[in-house]
Amino acid sequence: ESRKRLVIGNWKMHGTLAGNASLLADLRSGAGEAGACELAVCAPFPYLAQVQSLLQGSAVSWGAQDLSVHEQGAYTGEVAGAMLNDFSCRWVLVGHSERRALHGETDQLVADKAAAALAAGLTPVVCVGETLAEQEAGRTAAVIARQLAPVLALGAQAVARMVLAYEPVWAIGTGRTATPEQAQQVHASIRAMLAALGTSQVRVLYGGSVKASNAASLFAMADIDGALVGGASLVAQEFLRIAAA
Ligand code: G3H
Repeated sequence: ESRKRLVIGNWKMHGTLAGNASLLADLRSGAGEAGACELAVCAPFPYLAQVQSLLQGSAVSWGAQDLSVHEQGAYTGEVAGAMLNDFSCRWVLVGHSERRALHGETDQLVADKAAAALAAGLTPVVCVGETLAEQEAGRTAAVIARQLAPVLALGAQAVARMVLAYEPVWAIGTGRTATPEQAQQVHASIRAMLAALGTSQVRVLYGGSVKASNAASLFAMADIDGALVGGASLVAQEFLRIAAA
């Protein structure tokens, strides 16, 4: 009945073969501490084979940070969902604010990528969130609703197989976390949209400067089902402490 907690690390464009090996070994041995919480990492494409070989059979699952909307073809530099499947990825982030802001991904493209992920058998983690200017203009709810509209339009059956992540852009990598109450308010509004669609079991993660020191207060909120963790996911003990919270 209740939604299982989920903590996903987003390594972004960080890592080396040697550094990953030690991080993954620590996650593998420490993952038992995660308890009732599911734990996952989303690594850069070139490291997916390494992540697969070092996490296989552990309590930690893995995924990628983006995928192509296309199945295959002449799309230089793109990576298809089926390719992620070849490395046993379970998750794929779509619509991270850095993809939206730096790579011009539109709300519709993000929804199309979520659909492509589902078609490939992956679980898309659809990220939404407002910028500082939008927040200050009191437009948070409107922005989230606009970003989610084409995703929700995929229908209840599709959305039920997704994970959503609310990441206020002003809290990403800034050390400035939304207060638990601020985050909860947005999560509750997302939860209401999901309920209207009839998908109450969808998990909604919070992201933006989540650390071991603030995780417990965020996770205490009724509609926060876990976290999407950037910087703190690069340090095994910090990441495991977030999961333990
Ligand atoms: O995907 C992760 C988010 O962008 C949060 O990043 O934890 O470094 O603030 P951060």
